[in-house]
Parts: sequence; C-alpha cells; structure tokens
Amino acid sequence: MVDPNFPAFPPDFLWGTATASYQIEGAVDEGGRGPSIWDSFSHSPGKIARGDHGDVACDHYHRYREDVELLRELGVGAYRFSVAWPRIQPDGKGPANAEGLDFYQRLVDELLRAGITPCLTLYHWDLPQALEDAGGWRVRDTAERFADYAALVHAALADRVPMWGTLNEPYCSAFIGYSEGRHAPGAREGHGALAAAHHLLVGHGLAVQAMRAQCSGPADRQRLGITLNLNHVTPATPDPADVAAAARAELLYNRVFSDPILGGRWPTGERELWSPISDFDFRRDGDLELIGQPLDFLGLNNYFPSYAKHAPTADELTEHRVATAINVVENPPAELPRTAMGWPVEPAGLGRLLRWLRDGYPGLPPIYITENGCAYPDELDADKQVEDPQRVVFLDQHLRAVHAAIADGVDVRGYFCWSLLDNFEWALGYSKRFGLVYVDYPTQLRIPKASYRWFRELIARR
Ligand code: FCB
Repeated sequence: MVDPNFPAFPPDFLWGTATASYQIEGAVDEGGRGPSIWDSFSHSPGKIARGDHGDVACDHYHRYREDVELLRELGVGAYRFSVAWPRIQPDGKGPANAEGLDFYQRLVDELLRAGITPCLTLYHWDLPQALEDAGGWRVRDTAERFADYAALVHAALADRVPMWGTLNEPYCSAFIGYSEGRHAPGAREGHGALAAAHHLLVGHGLAVQAMRAQCSGPADRQRLGITLNLNHVTPATPDPADVAAAARAELLYNRVFSDPILGGRWPTGERELWSPISDFDFRRDGDLELIGQPLDFLGLNNYFPSYAKHAPTADELTEHRVATAINVVENPPAELPRTAMGWPVEPAGLGRLLRWLRDGYPGLPPIYITENGCAYPDELDADKQVEDPQRVVFLDQHLRAVHAAIADGVDVRGYFCWSLLDNFEWALGYSKRFGLVYVDYPTQLRIPKASYRWFRELIARR
C-alpha cells in the first residue's frame, strides 16, 4: 500500500517505465536484423555470467502486445524503449530495412492505442557489428553513421513519437565498453576510450542536427534530448587526497559528458589527468558547439551516489584503463544498505545530484529521470507471486527525494522506473532482476510483482 502521507507530485508529472532493445527483444535473427556488438560479445566465452546472451531475452519482439497491455494496466503515461540500430541498418549504413522499422511502428501504434506516450532512445548500446569492425566509436565515421541512422528512424516515427533521446549513458559505452572491457565490445584502451567518449558526443550532436533539420509540425513533437548516467560524488573522507580523488571521479563519471553538453565547455583538468594516455587528437574545431546544441530535455539515469577514495596503487593495466588511471576506488559508508548489484542505497544521493545539476549548469533543460530502480533476488513464492518489499521501499524513498528536489526548485518533469520487466542485465545476464514484472524465462510468463501493484496505486492517486 502506498503511504497515505506520500507527497503529491505535480498533476502533469510523467510516470513511466524503461527498457532497452537488446535487454528484452530477443529475435536476433529475425526481421532482417544484423548482428550487434552485444551479440558477438555475449557469445564470446567468459564474458557474461552463466554464459547468458540476448538471443531470446524476454521475447518482447513477439510478445510486445502483451507487454504494452502490462503498461496499460500499470497506468503509466509514458514508456521509454530503445530502437536496435541493427534492425534498421543491419550493417550500420545504407537505406532503412523496412521490416525493422515496421516492428517499431507496430510497437508505437500499440502504445498510442493504449494512451501511452512513446519515448524513444536511438542508441542503448547495440552498435551494428560491422561498424565496430570498422573502428567502432573510436572513429569519427561512426558518429556520422549514427546521424544517418537517427534521421531514418526520425523520418519514419516523428509523427507519432514526441520524445527522442539520442544516446543512453555514453559513459558506459565509452568507458565500460572500451576501457574496462566489461561491456561490448570488450576493449581495454585508454586513448581509444577517450576517443569513443568524444565520438559518442559528436554523434549525439550530429543526430540532434539531423533530426532538427527534418522537424516540422507542432512544437511538442520536437523534444530532443540525451540520457546521461551521472552520480553525485563525495570524497570518502576529508583527507585532501580523497578530495582530489573525488574531483577526478567527478570528471570521469560526469563532466566528460555534462560539461560539453550542458555547460558549453570542455571539463577542466582532463588534459592534465589524461595526457599520459591521450593527445586528444580526435577533437576538431567546432565540435564543442556541435555537442552543446540546445536540448529540450535532459534524461537522467541514477542508481547510487559515489564516494571516492584515493587509490595509490593502480593495477597493472593502468595505462590502458582510463577508469583505473584516475586512481580512485569507490568507498561508500559501510552503513548504507546494498542492492543485489552491490550498489549502495542512498536516496538523498539522487537529491544531491539533482541540486548539483541545477547549481552547476545555468539554463539546464527540464529533467526526466529516465532510469532509477534496483535489483533484488526476487523469487516466485508457493502461490506463484513475488513479494518485493525492498523494491517498494527503494522506489518510495527515491521518489520522495525527487519530490523534495522539485519543491526545492529543480525542474524534474517525469520518472521512469527501470525496468518494466526483469531482463538481460548485460555482463550479469539474467541473474539480476530489476523488473516491476517478474519474467519466468523458461515459460516467458510475466508475473507482476508487489512493486508493480504499488507503483500502479501511486500513479492512480493523481
Ligand atoms: C543502466 C542501463 C540499463 C540497465 C540499468 C540497470 O546502466 O542503462 O540498461 O542495465 O543500468
């Protein structure tokens, strides 16, 4: 039951849930879809927990109607999903594959029939493998190909989709994918990862330009933005070494992306920090303006705050791993509870992050929280039900933090819970469950959890 004292959100606040193509669709060989870096990566031995992959996932490609029905019953006003680039351009370039577009057209029409606003993300990590073979995000050409792809999808769907996000979490694409190697394409590079970060930003800018150029009709159909995963960073102790570590963490986690996109500047300190691994030769005149074009919204994903501690000994991969080259380890207060991901739970951290954005970036566009949620070891009980009280507490507390930030003047317009369904949690496969709806993978049965009923009640209170 929703706490009767739960604070009231603005009447037009947008409630939603989020998913991503590779995590739920399956059907990797259907509809003319080409291979993505996640197909290759997940089929490489030892990369994914238990050898899982997204070949079937939640079979959403075939069951999307049932999933839209779950959304309708939940009562959400919006649904955030992503388009799989290799369904639209199987090898990353050329004309649109009609069958690929058709799937998203059917999904969007189904959402609209259910009275749900479709919020489309163009890139949630499934790069066509052919583009990776040609250099991936290390090379500028991929940014140009991304703008072509954005224009194709936008031309087909802009009449029905009012909210467009270019990238999901470029931090993860660049640094987990090209530096830590935990995500596809599994590279462990320094310069390559910084180049990837830059070309993702350039790709975002080019895609915004391409879509704006073909925008017409009512202004509410033109809302373009990007989703960043940002973390509020606190030094783990007042020790000056940890204070300096926190500044480096804030640079890597946040400012590499938020400064050029929202602040019209390159982040201070980057050249000093990374001159041993990169000469930044990927930057071109005019890039900053391209990347920093005005946006209609900022999508914010947040799961936990950062507590940065100086780590004097980097591991042997220092020169290849940007993430460790900053000599930071995460050291959150021991008393904070953890989710099944091991992530510390501190709702106030989301509040601090929202205020950090407001104070640091004058002219900030309206914020939508495009992801927030938690994994817990949910299980079916004897009655084939899932009680997930920890998720209810997590959502309740994080939403209160959002509400307090709104009351404090931060312009937050919506909240999308990650995720509608349990799904393929990247390197951790199906072992981590984030859904409001439990998925019994062998039967593909969807079983709404207690948190689904809680969220439904919350939305209905309006
Ligand atoms: C985010 C991703 C999303 C999901 C959540 C748990 O980093 O955007 O796809 O995996 O984490």
